[in-house]
Amino acid sequence: MKPTFQCNDLRAEHIGSEVIVAGWVQRRRDHGGLIFIDLRDSSGIVQIVFNPEINPDAHKIAHQVRNEYVLAVKGKVNRRPEGTENPNLPTGEIEIPADEIEILNTSETPPFVIDDSADEVAEEIRLKYRYLDIRRPRMQNNLRLRHKVYMATRKYLDEKGFIEVETPVLTKSTPEGARDFLVPSRLIPGTFFAMPQSPQLFKQLLMISGIGKYFQIVKCYRDEDLRADRQLEFTQIDIEMSFIDEEDIFKLTEGLMHSIFKNSLGIDITIPFPRMTYEESMRRYGCDKPDVRFGMELIDVGDIVKDSDFKVFVSTVASGGQVKGIVAPGLAKASRKEIDDLTDYVKTFGAKGLVSMKVLDGDIESPVKKFFSQAHIQKLIERTSAKVGDLMLFVADKSNVVTESLNRLRLKLGNELGLMDDKRFEFLWIIDFPLFHYNEEEKRLDSEHHPFTGVHPEDMHLLDTDPLKVRSRSYDLVLNGNEIASGSIRIHNMELQKKIFNILQLTPKDIEDRFGFFLEALKFGAPPHGGIAPGLDRLVAIMVCSKSIRDVIAFPKTQSGTCLVTGAPSAVSDKQLKELYIKTTVGE
Ligand code: AMO
Ligand code: AMP
Repeated sequence: MKPTFQCNDLRAEHIGSEVIVAGWVQRRRDHGGLIFIDLRDSSGIVQIVFNPEINPDAHKIAHQVRNEYVLAVKGKVNRRPEGTENPNLPTGEIEIPADEIEILNTSETPPFVIDDSADEVAEEIRLKYRYLDIRRPRMQNNLRLRHKVYMATRKYLDEKGFIEVETPVLTKSTPEGARDFLVPSRLIPGTFFAMPQSPQLFKQLLMISGIGKYFQIVKCYRDEDLRADRQLEFTQIDIEMSFIDEEDIFKLTEGLMHSIFKNSLGIDITIPFPRMTYEESMRRYGCDKPDVRFGMELIDVGDIVKDSDFKVFVSTVASGGQVKGIVAPGLAKASRKEIDDLTDYVKTFGAKGLVSMKVLDGDIESPVKKFFSQAHIQKLIERTSAKVGDLMLFVADKSNVVTESLNRLRLKLGNELGLMDDKRFEFLWIIDFPLFHYNEEEKRLDSEHHPFTGVHPEDMHLLDTDPLKVRSRSYDLVLNGNEIASGSIRIHNMELQKKIFNILQLTPKDIEDRFGFFLEALKFGAPPHGGIAPGLDRLVAIMVCSKSIRDVIAFPKTQSGTCLVTGAPSAVSDKQLKELYIKTTVGE
C-alpha cells in the first residue's frame, strides 16, 4: 500500500473518501474493544481506529504494534463522534476507521519519546539518535524553515542577477582567524589541501573573472573551539559584487533579510536597518554586537566620582582608567547574596569588584555610601536616569576590563530580567571597525576581519604612522546580539594588498607561498569589489528562537567536536596512513 494523502492533510471535507496513509506510530491506546493509533508522518498526526466487531483481522494486527512501528492504513475518513474531537490537532475533527493495515516495519522502543518533550532529554542522547530526534515536529519544523531560507535566498539573489558558483573544498588556506582542516594529498606525497574557512579568495577571483554578482550557499570549515553559535563546519550565504560600495551591500542585504523573513516566517521586518559605529557600540554596550532589544547601556561616571572619597574610583580615574555603570531596573530588591553573586560574576571577567547602589526615594543604599556626598549621589542618579527601585552597578578599571565585565553583566541581567524577547528581531549594522588589532601573544598587528579588507579612505595616511587608528571598510550585521553577517569592500590594488601583508609582518616568502597566486591575479585588472557573508545557521537559529545552532543543523558536532551518530572522527587503518605517507605521533 502506498499513501494517497499525508496524515495532516485530511480534514472534514475528506469525510467519506477512501484514503491510504502511512507513517510511524506515535501512540497506541486500547479502549475496551477499540484500539486508537495516532499515526505520524512528516506532515503531522491523524487518528486511526480499529474496531474488532467491524474488522477483526485489522484489529488483531493493530494489537501487535508498538510506538514507532511503520504502518500503512487504508480506510474511509469519518467524522469523530461528538465530544471526541481534538481541537489541538488540525485533523482533530476526523479519524480513519481502518479497513486494512500493513506493518511495513517494526521498531525497537526508542530511547526517548518522539515528541517535543524530548527537548528535555540529554543532548548527547538526542545527538546519538539524531535520526530519531529529527522525527520530532520541532526538528522537522527547524529543517523545513532552513529549507525555506535557502529557497528565499536563491530566489532573491537570482532575481537580483546573481549567479551561484561553486568553489573548491580541497584548496589552499584562506585566513579567517581559525585553524585549517587539512587533507593529505596521496598524489603529491607530503602536501596538504586546506579546506576553506570561507570562499573569500575564490569569490574575489570570480570578480576578477568578471562574474560581477556571485553568491553561494556554502559550507565553511574552521578548526576552532565549539560553542552554542559555532560549529566546525557551518553554512554561509556568501556574496560578492563588483563596482559597488557599502551602500549597495547594505541595501542588498536588507532586501535579502526582508525576503527571508517574509517568505519563511511571514514577518515583515523593518528596513533599512539602523547603523552604529564600532566606537559607539563599544562605548554604549561594551561590545561590537550589541543586543539592542533592551537598554541598560554602559554609562560613564568618571567625571562625577573623580572627586569623591571612594579611593578606588578616584585613583582609577587619576590613572587614566574608567568608571562606568549600568542600571538594573527593579533590582533594588536584590539580596546581599544576589549582589555578591553579581560581584563574583564580574570578577571572572577581570573586574576587581562591583559597587552597588540601591535607589530609594531621594537617597541610596550602598555599602560604600559614606564615601559619596549627596551631590555625588544626585548626579549619579541623574546621569544614569535610575528610578526608585532600580539598582546601579559600577565597575572601575582599565577601559577593556570595564567594557568586558559590564557587557557580560548587562547580558546576564538582561536575560535574567526577561528583557530579551525571542519574538523581536532587532537588526543593527556595525560600521567603521578598526582595520587591525594588536596581537599580544605574537607582539604584532592582526587583521580585525581578514587581510583583504579595504581601508577607510579618510585613514589611508595613518597606515604607516598609527595603524591601530585606521578604520576599515568592513561591516557586521548584528541580530539580537549575534553577529549574523560580516563583510567588507575589498582591496583591489595589488600594491596596497602587499602593503597590508607587510604591516601584518608576513615575510616575502610567506606572502609568496600563501597569497602569491592572489597578488598575481590582482595585477590583471581587478575591479573594485566587495561582499558579505551571512552565517545561515545563526540566522535560522534566531528565527526559530533557539539558543544553539545545533538545533538547526541536521547532524551537528558536539561541544567536543565529535559526531555522535557516526563516531567521527575516528582512527584509520595503517594501510590508509601509509598510502598518504602519514605517521601519527599519538602515544609517542
Ligand atoms: P566571517 O568569518 O565573519 O566572515 O564569517 C561570516 C559569518 O559566518 C558565521 N560564522 C559561523 N557560524 C557558525 N559557526 C562558525 N564557526 C562560524 N564562523 C563564522 C557568522 C559570521 O558573521 N569571508 C568573510 C565574509 C566576507 O568578508 O565577505 C567571512 O567568512 O555569522
Ligand atoms: P573594598 O574596599 O575592597 O572592600 O571594596 C568595597 C566595595 O567596592 C566592594 O563592594 C567591592 O566589590 C567594590 N570594588 C572594589 N574594587 C572595585 C572596582 N575596581 N570597581 C568597582 N567596584 C569595586
